[in-house]
Amino acid sequence: MKFTAIAATCFSLFSQVLGESNISGPSSSKVTLPATFKPPQVFKNANLVHVISLEKNYAKESINVLIENSSPDSQDEYFLPFTSDQMERIGGIEVKDRKDASVTGFAVEAVEFDRSSDIQYYRIRLPAPLPAKGQQTLGISFYYLNAYAPLPAFIDQSEKQYLVYEFSAYCPSAYPTLKQKTEVKLPSSDIPDYTKIAGSGETKEFPQKQGSKLIYGPFPEVPAGAVSPVKVRYEFTKPVTHISHLERDVEVSHWGGNIAFEERYTLYNHGANLSAQFNRVKWAQAQYFNPQTYALKELKFPLRAGSKDAYFTDVIGNVSTSRFRSNRREAVLELKPRYPVFGGWKYPFTIGWNSDAKQFLRKKSGDSFLLNVPFIEGPKQAEGAAYEHIQVRVLLPEGAENVRFYTTIPESSITDYSVDLQKTYLDTIGRTVLTIKARNLVDDFRDRDLIVSYDYSLIASLRKPFVIFSSMLTVFVGIWALSKVDVSLSTK
Ligand SMILES: *[C@@H]1O[C@H](CO)[C@@H](O)[C@H](O)[C@H]1NC(C)=O
Ligand SMILES: *[C@@H]1O[C@H](CO)[C@@H](O)[C@H](O)[C@H]1NC(C)=O
Ligand SMILES: *[C@@H]1O[C@H](CO)[C@@H](O)[C@H](O)[C@H]1NC(C)=O
Repeated sequence: MKFTAIAATCFSLFSQVLGESNISGPSSSKVTLPATFKPPQVFKNANLVHVISLEKNYAKESINVLIENSSPDSQDEYFLPFTSDQMERIGGIEVKDRKDASVTGFAVEAVEFDRSSDIQYYRIRLPAPLPAKGQQTLGISFYYLNAYAPLPAFIDQSEKQYLVYEFSAYCPSAYPTLKQKTEVKLPSSDIPDYTKIAGSGETKEFPQKQGSKLIYGPFPEVPAGAVSPVKVRYEFTKPVTHISHLERDVEVSHWGGNIAFEERYTLYNHGANLSAQFNRVKWAQAQYFNPQTYALKELKFPLRAGSKDAYFTDVIGNVSTSRFRSNRREAVLELKPRYPVFGGWKYPFTIGWNSDAKQFLRKKSGDSFLLNVPFIEGPKQAEGAAYEHIQVRVLLPEGAENVRFYTTIPESSITDYSVDLQKTYLDTIGRTVLTIKARNLVDDFRDRDLIVSYDYSLIASLRKPFVIFSSMLTVFVGIWALSKVDVSLSTK
């Protein structure tokens, strides 16, 4: 193929995606507003419940709020404030109508106006403008990664771990809030420290502690921007698993009828550091009578039924302490890292497996195909898993074109995507590769779909055997030529 033709193919692939998918580039550079920006005071929060869930190794927050248009005109833009530090760590933000599930199409995007300002905003565009005095109940949910600080920061390998989380007892809002409360859900009732604040009405002091729950409020009206800093320290003797990088490759082979998955993890435990050198004998003894630990010692990956040929390697090589079970109903890969991963430690590893293409690939029509794979799979742990940088690459067959994709991952989590050609051994024009980058996701998004549509013609599919044949021919011709040279050399 000539260079111009390749360039034209690249260009058409790229423009197809840009034209057909409404997912745009980095969300942080999407909307730019002047530095003096302040959200117009057109709403009030009639009632708000803020739920902060600290049961896993990331924080999940939900804000259920009855908003009311307090301006004389229709409004469709509701702003949510975050600190610039929170903006770095937030992910998976989604908005729903809590009263009416059939209302969809809330567009959520980060607004950029002044990078140095401590308050930044996400803008929620309502599917339909709210008329004056109109009300709507929003269910807003999001996650924070790197949410906790261990305290003490150093502990012994058999000690309990405690984490600290900081938040505001008043839900941060760009609008006045008439009535609200904040509920904090913790993993257990072992909560040695939490900030107490003055109560209101009949309650002298907040929070109220109910088992593993703390309740701040209900509070009377607070103005826009009001905060009341609170800290809570609680037991979490589980690993604070943080995957700083996940590279997931999905390789589609029409010829082999196979989809090959490979995932490369850079995993850290963000829990407390060891106060003394790791003692393996003490560890083995402790495991026997008290297996509860803040070290990561096992990872369980549920895969699609029918997965096969699973492998697990780390920097040293194959890790034999893994178990793979696969039958008609389920497939589970269980890994034991080579050493227990304590706080501050890192464990990079790779896993991979094969699946029958029939499970994921459908013929749409003629030469048009649909691939439907989970955007991420990853470990399923009671304590959860957080992913900071994710790169998903879908390697389509050589000659695949007209690539489009759709994903049920929140749009604001996608930071970048591209379609390129990548040459591998024996390829003539190179494989078509769709690369999607995302950030700040958690295992709640396991099994969200990634749907890729592409065209792949019979002529394109015939290219490979032809290449193998013609390159074999080159080899034969080469050997032929070499043997002639050999003869001439030996007879010299
Ligand atoms: C993209 O957005 C445009 C208008 O905003 C719409 O007409 C089009 O259908 C959307 N395309 C997809 C694939 O969602
Ligand atoms: C790792 O294990 C697989 C299968 O168990 C085997 O095929 C491969 O040769 C091993 N690799 C190394 C480097 O030991
Ligand atoms: C814990 O250990 C890690 C890795 O050695 C280090 O980067 C981190 O600063 C340590 N934490 C504290 C609180 O010293």
